[in-house]
Amino acid sequence: MKADIRKIEEDYTDVAPESSELIHPKIYKGLVGVYVDESLITYIDGVNGKLYYRGYALRDLCEKSTFEEVAYLLIHGTLPSNSEFIEFKDLLIKERSIPDNIVTLLKSFPRNTTRIELLRTAISALSLYDPDDYDYTEQANIRKGLRIVAKMPTLLAFAHRIQTNLPLVEPSEDLSHSANYYYMMTGNRPDKDFEEAFDDVLICHADHSINPSTFSCRVTVSTLSDIYSGITSAIGTLRGTLHGGANEAVMKFMVNEIKKKENVIPWAEKKFENKEKIMGFGHRVYKTWDPRAEILRDIFMGFFNKAQDGELIDKIPNHEQDIHDEVDYIIEMTEILTGYVIKAKGIYPNVDLYSAGLLHTLGIPTASFTPLFAASRSAGWVAHAIEQLKNNKLIRPRLRYIGEIEKNYVKIEERY
Ligand SMILES: CC(C)(COP(=O)(O)OP(=O)(O)OC[C@H]1O[C@@H](n2cnc3c(N)ncnc32)[C@H](O)[C@@H]1OP(=O)(O)O)[C@@H](O)C(=O)NCCC(=O)NCCS
Repeated sequence: MKADIRKIEEDYTDVAPESSELIHPKIYKGLVGVYVDESLITYIDGVNGKLYYRGYALRDLCEKSTFEEVAYLLIHGTLPSNSEFIEFKDLLIKERSIPDNIVTLLKSFPRNTTRIELLRTAISALSLYDPDDYDYTEQANIRKGLRIVAKMPTLLAFAHRIQTNLPLVEPSEDLSHSANYYYMMTGNRPDKDFEEAFDDVLICHADHSINPSTFSCRVTVSTLSDIYSGITSAIGTLRGTLHGGANEAVMKFMVNEIKKKENVIPWAEKKFENKEKIMGFGHRVYKTWDPRAEILRDIFMGFFNKAQDGELIDKIPNHEQDIHDEVDYIIEMTEILTGYVIKAKGIYPNVDLYSAGLLHTLGIPTASFTPLFAASRSAGWVAHAIEQLKNNKLIRPRLRYIGEIEKNYVKIEERY
């Protein structure tokens, strides 16, 4: 089925209509509703709350595929054959380790630094060790992209364990991408339920069309800069709480501010009274439920039901139990908040609301939430960098200058 994209007569132009001469060119603040190019990667149906990677529905991919296969799909454009998939997975495994100098660099950073800052700096440094650093061909970009996807979990797990004074856990060659990531970060090999849930979180974050970080990545490579610079720009952009940083913000307000079910509605009312935004709600494109939030909510509910039946207790890592002694179940508070915000404001949950609680239940430290988003989105960023470079046009919009011109320059000693 073709995506329902309404076409207008002239739907592609790289010539602005004499914009330099216009005194009042139309401004689309925040580029709301502006299409900057065409893409074959991801389709978001914001009205019906649907998301497709290369034409495949996200829910199908979560149920039937794996993060590795989704990464292949995003980067190469098609699902792999069996042999292509084996080769791809082997490459990802082979590329998991990081150079000793990068480990030394991670150890040299100040403690209590956000993991996303560590990642931004480490990815930038990693480019210096890439054997293809100065090869800008598409094949080299794919090799570099694969290394980035493969190494990011190792960088993040190592950064987390260094920051928390824990011994490093070397990558394992016999675990899947997500199980290995979980293992290196927590020191525990996940069981099947945890591995599948964690893999689904990664799949749900793997791409989202031209979101702010992907836009940054495409802008950077559109200057014919390198793919590592594109990913570094993307990580810096992802960090903000209006984008990838929202998942950490959600967990912080759940655990530090709301704490109990009965506090949810008064807390939200106060936020609205103060005209503050509630992280984890709202989206530029979705005007209904974010399909990623729905998928993660279902998984989260599954875990909650198991916990209610007493099945989960042994699996939840220790720090979770410490928190649960004083805080109600996150899923219960999340559900109350969702119901209230939809009813009061007609604003729906986005991916960050449910990924936060689910990751918490899986035992992922809050400080690793946003970096985990980056590790997963790296597949999408790489796919977009490659697509941008296939048919590149420098991305360079305009700003309408509204200040004065031809001002009289006054020498410093004559200024008041
Ligand atoms: C994602 C987001 C930045 C989209 O922003 P946007 O398309 O620029 O939309 P706006 O911020 O202009 O929001 C439109 C209206 O909805 C309100 N709104 C949007 N998200 C809101 C939220 N999370 N909490 C409260 N109100 C919200 C705005 O206040 C605004 O109301 P107004 O028209 O009365 O001023 C915005 O929804 C947001 O800040 N959400 C919280 C951060 C978050 O969860 N980010 C992760 C996104 S995946």
